[in-house]
Amino acid sequence: MNYARIVGTGSYLPARVLENSELEQMVDTTDQWIRERTGIERRHIAAEGETTCDLAESAARHAIEAAGIEANDIDLIIVATTTADCVFPSVACLLQQRLKITNASPAFDVQAVCAGFVYALGIANTFIKAGSARNVLVVGAETFSRILNWKDRNTCVLFGDGAGAVVVQASETPGIHSTHLHADGRYAELLHVPQGISRGYTEMQEQGAFVEMRGSEVFRTAVTKLSEVVDEALLANNLDKSEIDWLVPHQANLRIIKATARKLSMTLDKVVVTVQDHGNTSAASIPLALDVAVRDGRIKAGEKLLLEGFGGGFTWGGALITL
Ligand code: UT7
Repeated sequence: MNYARIVGTGSYLPARVLENSELEQMVDTTDQWIRERTGIERRHIAAEGETTCDLAESAARHAIEAAGIEANDIDLIIVATTTADCVFPSVACLLQQRLKITNASPAFDVQAVCAGFVYALGIANTFIKAGSARNVLVVGAETFSRILNWKDRNTCVLFGDGAGAVVVQASETPGIHSTHLHADGRYAELLHVPQGISRGYTEMQEQGAFVEMRGSEVFRTAVTKLSEVVDEALLANNLDKSEIDWLVPHQANLRIIKATARKLSMTLDKVVVTVQDHGNTSAASIPLALDVAVRDGRIKAGEKLLLEGFGGGFTWGGALITL
């Protein structure tokens, strides 16, 4: 039982859909600009009072059902999020209680923004390979709408809310072949929420805490780093790019997705693209895209997938898996 394998996927999107046309009424933008520069057409927004844990719970229940296990079989919960319900406890602990898991197994959050899911998957893989867990619930969940400045057209048109989850299980056959995690804190100020508890709670309450981004600089670095991580994953597994069945990328911008697909000589019909309907849901975007393509029958058991993500920090990473 030396390997870790994804045995169930699930996702959840809030009911409210915000179309580009509605954003035209809110900031100085156009549907055409958003579509041409990002590929985004709409995104889902959490209802008032609907929290990251609410989204995570629905996605997790779907993944657990798909895996055919009981919630109490889960012996580790990792939630990747930047938008936790509260300062503490972690969303993972709140989720454990919601799922009525009473086996006292560990639960914690991972904060690596849009690369969070790949980070969490890497950690799950390591726990299972070390024999420290057998059924890991890995969730990416965000209510990013809460940290958007709805007057800033540079950012508010880009993001959405949602959650995706997978159950990773100990297996005799390889599922997760490798994960490749990176960070470079020198880029922190290109994409950040500069306020926070420790920098002054009162100031944060007065000024708000919102995403700020230098978009074109983030774009350029994202394309470079994602291209590097794709090479790294292929090399580590001694695979040719033609052997990858599906690219399941972070959904930030269709132009970034296309650049990574070009690098793999992949046509877009082998790339899971959900950015048009979800926008950028940060840590939720990869497991959301994965679940969509598994449930609509595109991705089949036994196929080779390359997952990749890039986000604030900067953080970035890739995972090569057989489903
Ligand atoms: O998930 C984490 C990783 N995030 C990313 O990977 C995002 C990376 N960045 C991007 O996706 C793109 O850089 C953006 C979509 C954010 C922006 O696209 P761009 O092609 O890089 O545009 P730009 O930032 O160079 O801006 C071009 C123009 C500017 O106007 P001027 O200065 O040329 O007059 C912006 O002010 O577009 C303007 N602009 C807008 N116009 C209409 C910026 N946002 C908007 C908007 N509507 N919403």
